[in-house]
Formats: sequence, C-alpha cells, structure tokens
Amino acid sequence: MTAGPRAPSGAGSAAYPVALQDEVEAYLADLEFATVPGTRGLHEAMRHSLLAGGKRVRPVLALATAEAVGRARAEVMPLAAALELVHTYSLIHDDLPAMDDDELRRGRPTCHVAFGEGVAILAGDGLFAEALRILLERQAGEPEHVLAAARELVTAAGVDGMVGGQFLDITGDAQTDGESLRRLHALKTGRLIGASVECVLLLAGLPEAETAPYRRFAHELGVLFQIVDDILDVTGEEQAIGKPSGSDERHGKATYVSVFGLDRARELAADSHAGARRALADAGGRTAKLEQAADYILTRRR
Ligand code: IPE
Ligand code: IPE
Ligand code: MG
Ligand code: MG
Ligand code: MG
Repeated sequence: MTAGPRAPSGAGSAAYPVALQDEVEAYLADLEFATVPGTRGLHEAMRHSLLAGGKRVRPVLALATAEAVGRARAEVMPLAAALELVHTYSLIHDDLPAMDDDELRRGRPTCHVAFGEGVAILAGDGLFAEALRILLERQAGEPEHVLAAARELVTAAGVDGMVGGQFLDITGDAQTDGESLRRLHALKTGRLIGASVECVLLLAGLPEAETAPYRRFAHELGVLFQIVDDILDVTGEEQAIGKPSGSDERHGKATYVSVFGLDRARELAADSHAGARRALADAGGRTAKLEQAADYILTRRR
C-alpha cells in the first residue's frame, strides 16, 4: 500500500497542476489597470503584488472545477482572474502595519513597504474593484449565471466571509475552542477558496442537488488550506514561503498550532484532507486535477 500525502513536515510536496497555473499567470500578466493619466503608479503597485509569484491556488481550483464538470477551462478564465485579484487585495491589506504588519510577501517587500501605506490601501481597493469589473465585463455565460457567480464572489469576500474572518482574527474576538477556530478559518480563508469551486458550479448553472459533493469538498479544502498555512508559519523557511515565518506567534494569533500543537494540527490537516478527498470521490466527473490540488494543499512547502 502506498502512503497517502503527509502534512508539511519536511517531506516533498505532491504534484501541482502547473499547466493551469501557467495559463492563469499569462492571463494576469496581460491585465492593464491604468488608463487615466497619472495613475501609472497605482497600476505598478497593483502589479507589484499581483505578479509576484503567488501559487494561484484559487484560480487553479476554478479551472480544475471547470474541467471536472465538463467545461472548457478558457471559458472561466475571467472568473479565475477575479478570484486571484480579490485574494491579492486581501494579502496587501493583511500585511499592513495596522493588521499583521509584515514586510515580506511572495518573496518581495510588501506593497506598503515598496509604495507606502496610502498607495498600498488603494492598490488593494483597486484590485477588488477591478476584479468585479473583469468578471462583469468579460465573463461569458447566461447573465443570471454570471450574476450568481459575482454574488458568490462578493459574499465570500465580505462580512460573512473573508473580511468578517479577518475582523475576528485582528480583534482577537475569536474563541480558541476547536469549533470556533474552525469557524474563523472557514471565514477568513475557507470562504474564498470555497468560492473558487462554487462560482464555477454557479456559472455552469448546475442544479444544487448534483453538485452537493463538490460544495462539501470546497468547504473542507478551505479549512485545510488555512490549517496548513498555520503549520507553515511555524515550520516554514522564509525563503520558501516568501513571507515572514513566526508572524502568528509574534502577534499572539489563535492558530491550529497555538491551540492544538504542531502534531495535532498535522493530524487535523490530514483528517480535513481525507474528508475533502472523500467528497470528491462522491462527486464523480473528471476530478483528477482537483485531486492533485487537494493533495498539494496538504503537502505544500510554500
Ligand atoms: C496566503 O494565501 C494567505 C491565506 C489566505 C492563507 P496563499 O498561500 O494562497 O498565498 P499566495 O497566493 O500563494 O501568495
Ligand atoms: C490571512 O491569514 C488570510 C487572508 C484573508 C489574507 P494569514 O494572516 O495567516 O495569511 P498570511 O500567513 O499572512 O499569508
Ligand atoms: Mg492575517
Ligand atoms: Mg498575515
Ligand atoms: Mg498565515
């Protein structure tokens, strides 16, 4: 029997669908944000953070979901790009002195270190708005399906999603029992990861009854993603993760490692991964790339 993927521990990581990552990278590199004279500096700040070598997990999940449900990947590229823009905005704001106060991101100086706080705030705001513009201007599909996807994206980014989770995170209002911690992770990170799958199902107009296992998969994967992020904050090498290690401890953050310890956090990550894989097995469809992405998310080193 071959061993399944292991939580980050020093071992290598599972294969990642790099072909999908390359497709996303090329699309993002072509985006032009500045058309009004004088706004070139803002465009540069946005691209500094966007084109800095992120893993592109959210757009890759969107493309892999399209493939799983029998759609052409290129069909959902505007949505995939919109997910990455929203995510990048969340990173720029997450790093600000008023939030996690970090100086390294994606292996580069954070946006506020490179361009100043005011410009970094605007770069985040700009990426969020441009994400919606790209989705609403470029995404093909039945208008009600595009609207449903847009609604899911902004809900996942909003108070019932990422921003609400970030509020709990920075105010320290998150309880540290297992259930509350899981809820925090599901909000601040899980919701947008989940939307990367969910938005594609909505775009495809598939009935909810048919796609319930994909939704279970997406939810579990989102929590898994942040558990592993918490582990990497402790075990990761700054050069590999491209951001400062030990940031959570410096700020007294409630994480899976601070609450459960490293070994138990790894076990919980493995449980979440197994749950995600079970859901995917129930989903049917061409799920090979989603399986790869799930394995990578458990075993990743960055
Ligand atoms: C980091 O996200 C922030 C979290 C939501 C945990 P990623 O690990 O996806 O970062 P990039 O996009 O690869 O830089
Ligand atoms: C941030 O969680 C999640 C976001 C919504 C950006 P973290 O604060 O743990 O993310 P990193 O470790 O700085 O990437
Ligand atoms: Mg944070
Ligand atoms: Mg942070
Ligand atoms: Mg972190």
